[in-house]
Amino acid sequence: MDDLKSKYLSQIAGAADESALETIRVAAVGKKGEVALKMRELGKMTPEERQLAGPALNALKGEINSALIAKKAGLVDAALDERLRTEWLDVTLPSRARRVGTLHPVSQAQEELTAIFAELGFSVAEGARVETDWYNFDALNIPGHHPARAEMDTFYMHRAEGDDRPPHVLRTHTSPVQIRSMEKMGAPLRIICPGGVYRADYDQTHTPMFHQVEGLALDTDISMANLKWTLEEFVKSFFELDDIELRFRASHFPFTEPSAEVDIRCSWKDGTLKIGEGDDWMEILGSGMVHPKVIAAGGIDPDVYQGFAFGIGIDRLAMLKYGIPDLRAFFDSDLRWLRHYGFQCLDMPSLHGGLSR
Ligand code: DAH
Repeated sequence: MDDLKSKYLSQIAGAADESALETIRVAAVGKKGEVALKMRELGKMTPEERQLAGPALNALKGEINSALIAKKAGLVDAALDERLRTEWLDVTLPSRARRVGTLHPVSQAQEELTAIFAELGFSVAEGARVETDWYNFDALNIPGHHPARAEMDTFYMHRAEGDDRPPHVLRTHTSPVQIRSMEKMGAPLRIICPGGVYRADYDQTHTPMFHQVEGLALDTDISMANLKWTLEEFVKSFFELDDIELRFRASHFPFTEPSAEVDIRCSWKDGTLKIGEGDDWMEILGSGMVHPKVIAAGGIDPDVYQGFAFGIGIDRLAMLKYGIPDLRAFFDSDLRWLRHYGFQCLDMPSLHGGLSR
């Protein structure tokens, strides 16, 4: 019995897992196990022998069973420890980036410039893309006979015969929002208006629909110096570069006097477009001091208020900033292009948080 005891207790102690333990249990205390066989031998014993052997066998059976239970609990604990050690999860890891679509470079540029002008105290105004010719032209000092109307390659809305409502156009620039904003808000005023505009034009740097952002600042003491500072500040912030070269060229717009067009230094080498270097200039905006007639058309007294205005091509800004050489690709809706040039849509640009990173 002592042999049986030491044999099984050492087997139990060495069992590697629960199934090994079960094999030992069957062999030791199972119905046909060694202890049961010994129990059967009790019948052949004398009553005296039986009195000694019976309790001893029961005690042996009890000891083996307790050892089995203790070992089993130990194995279960060890298995759990092993699982806890190997199957773990670092909940502090960043989540896997999920594609929820990307922002078009024009939308990205629009978000960025809105953040910059917000910092300079400009709020965002909106206007409709279909305008009457009065808001698009006349109110901006472009009367019917003016050559600028012809130059703009305007899309006119179809009118049924006998329709005597004023002619409507797809706005050719965001400038009509100047008039709408003056009417709505009066002066002093500081607004930008980003949005789509339309002209019948198509080549590497022109598409029939494109985007501008109009700016307008009116107050009693605004000069051309304020305009220049604002534009330089904007361009530096937008391109995230300190040494950007701008060229202010005297120009003419009916709605400003004096007027200036602004070009940015760039290069177009081997199909890539770079800013801040090279011998090329790309025109990015028109600007000037708002013409008194325009201020009056907006219902504001031009003898009290004056100010500056500008119109910037957003698509051109995006081309320059992100090195995209052909404007037409912006409107092809090619998903591969969008994935390549697109931006994470949940990263809101801000001057503190970073514009495009
Ligand atoms: N509206 C002009 C265009 O589309 C751009 C422009 C020039 C806007 C001068 C302005 C400005 O506000 O002052 O070409």
